Amino acid sequence: MSNVQRAWIVERRGRPSHALKLRSDWKIPNKLEPGEVLVRVQAAALNPVGYKLMAVLPNFMGSGRPLPAEQDISGVIEDGNGTEFSKGDEVFGFIAVDLSQATRQGALAQYVKMPADFLVMRPSNVSPVEAAGITLAGQTAYQGLVDIAKLEAGQTVFINGGSSAVGAFAIQIAKAIGARVVATASGKNEDFVRRLGVDEFIDYTKKPLHEYLTTNPPSPKYHLILDAVALIDSALYTHSPAYLAPNGLFLSTGPFPKNASSSELWKGIKTITAVLTPRWLGGTNRRYAIFLLKNKKSNLEALQRMIANGSVKPVVDSVYEFEDVLKAYERLLSSRATGKVVVKVDPLVD
Ligand SMILES: NC(=O)c1ccc[n+]([C@@H]2O[C@H](COP(=O)([O-])OP(=O)(O)OC[C@H]3O[C@@H](n4cnc5c(N)ncnc54)[C@H](OP(=O)(O)O)[C@@H]3O)[C@@H](O)[C@H]2O)c1
Repeated sequence: MSNVQRAWIVERRGRPSHALKLRSDWKIPNKLEPGEVLVRVQAAALNPVGYKLMAVLPNFMGSGRPLPAEQDISGVIEDGNGTEFSKGDEVFGFIAVDLSQATRQGALAQYVKMPADFLVMRPSNVSPVEAAGITLAGQTAYQGLVDIAKLEAGQTVFINGGSSAVGAFAIQIAKAIGARVVATASGKNEDFVRRLGVDEFIDYTKKPLHEYLTTNPPSPKYHLILDAVALIDSALYTHSPAYLAPNGLFLSTGPFPKNASSSELWKGIKTITAVLTPRWLGGTNRRYAIFLLKNKKSNLEALQRMIANGSVKPVVDSVYEFEDVLKAYERLLSSRATGKVVVKVDPLVD
């Protein structure tokens, strides 16, 4: 085995076309700490956090640069290093952002070293390409619905962005729990979202959502609003007393500026002000929470079981060759992907 590999390296701040460089001389990790394994990557999936950090984070702020981009992988264990995994095991998982920055490991590389706790075995009913996109979006949906909101059978959840990667997992997980699901997307994605199992569909392009829901309030009001789009506009939250139950929760995957422009930052400041204004000063009379994915092996295993029993199916939007990573980012940056944008790191993988 050679000691160098091909990897898409984040070298500087900017859009992917400016920030990334395809290198053929990136060192393959040769020293594993206890609990770490070496994985030969088969496929990697892109997530918005990848391009958002590239766009916003300067090189000096703990960015870990230069480092291979992205988090989500499927692959084959090359060195199990005394963990639960053995050479040849087929796995999927992710390198969390903080771990990636601290260890200079990333998904868009042929080899990655990472703790075994961030991986599980790939069920045989999903391909490496399908499995690559499960972990970050799937665990986010699971953590939001189960760990934070404690969604129960019979409750109603409103999922904003049902055709997004997080939304598509959230719909399926909520249905598996036994909840009633209302989800939004643009009209062209209605069939896609309905096939995932929603009970009610709302086309968010016809009318601003907060206006539609205020004039057509659900009865009973929603137990949970999961904003899987992470709208940076706070109107859906500030009008929520009309459609969210008094003890309900508005949960967002985290309004985060798409770039460092002043208009994006200003929108972010307005949202922070809206959610921090206390009720006695006219703030919104509903609970609001933002959450950031934390890896939990038991959640990853729960997701693995749902995939294996078919109650959750990974959804792939599109697949790109390793050389075409910049085209894959263009697709993700369009904000129109339905499911995961996947990159084949091993050209022979399906
Ligand atoms: N907190 C965390 O730990 C965490 C983890 C994962 C993701 N996130 C965040 O969650 C968000 C979603 O990530 P993702 O990977 O799921 O995104 P994604 O798959 O790239 O989202 C694309 C989808 O969003 C839909 N969409 C875009 N604008 C919309 C709107 N205004 N209303 C409803 N749907 C809309 C599009 O459908 P249409 O074409 O029909 O509009 C498209 O299908 C991102 O902001 C990401 O950064 C946070």
